[in-house]
Amino acid sequence: MAVMNETPTPTLAERYSARAYDPFLWLGERLGMARRRRELLADAHGEVLEIGAGTGLNLAHYPAAVERLVLTEPVEGMARALERRVRRLGANARVARAAAERLPFPDDSFDVVVSTLVLCTVEDPERALGEIARVLRPGGRLLFIEHLRSDHGRWAGWQDRLEGAWAAFGDGCRCNQPTLELLERSPLRLGGLERAAWTGMPPMVRPLAIGAASA
Ligand SMILES: C[S@@+](CC[C@H](N)C(=O)[O-])C[C@H]1O[C@@H](n2cnc3c(N)ncnc32)[C@H](O)[C@@H]1O
Repeated sequence: MAVMNETPTPTLAERYSARAYDPFLWLGERLGMARRRRELLADAHGEVLEIGAGTGLNLAHYPAAVERLVLTEPVEGMARALERRVRRLGANARVARAAAERLPFPDDSFDVVVSTLVLCTVEDPERALGEIARVLRPGGRLLFIEHLRSDHGRWAGWQDRLEGAWAAFGDGCRCNQPTLELLERSPLRLGGLERAAWTGMPPMVRPLAIGAASA
């Protein structure tokens, strides 16, 4: 009888992306992104779901007020890197292989959802935002750091022109996505918002929006 393998083998491209991810972000993390992650996650508490957790760069920043942490990641190469980091840090977190558009959790099951640099890559961000609103308890919050289409026409024009090349390089990342507008049209209510530059990274992924939205 054939034995079913529950988790797929990562492709060569996935392995490469997962290995290249932390070195590519290294400078940006040191020049402020690690601090921004820590500040954002200081508000996390109770039952927390992170979508598109990647290699787990947020893991070290979750405060003790987090009682349950579920990290979702749909790409096998990243999910394996994430599991390695969970083990290395001895973190109390579960990794689930799931896309943000189809979260395998009941309605109203989390106090906080975290999304850092994910909505630009998710294939259907509108559907993902609907799913986030669904799994959040009433009053629960999405904490996010996302990069946006620029407000400056000339630079936004460059983001449009370079969109395809950037997406090929960045595993489908859409550098010109108006993510704040998607959030405004979603079932979530936008709360505090700060804009910043992602220093140490190519200008394609500026500006950043850092904030919270409530269910
Ligand atoms: C730029 S990385 C961000 C990783 C991590 N959140 C961070 O802050 O470093 C984007 C992540 O989104 C994941 N991703 C791609 N499609 C997704 C989807 N449909 N749902 C959830 N995550 C997705 C990718 O595999 C990748 O790990």
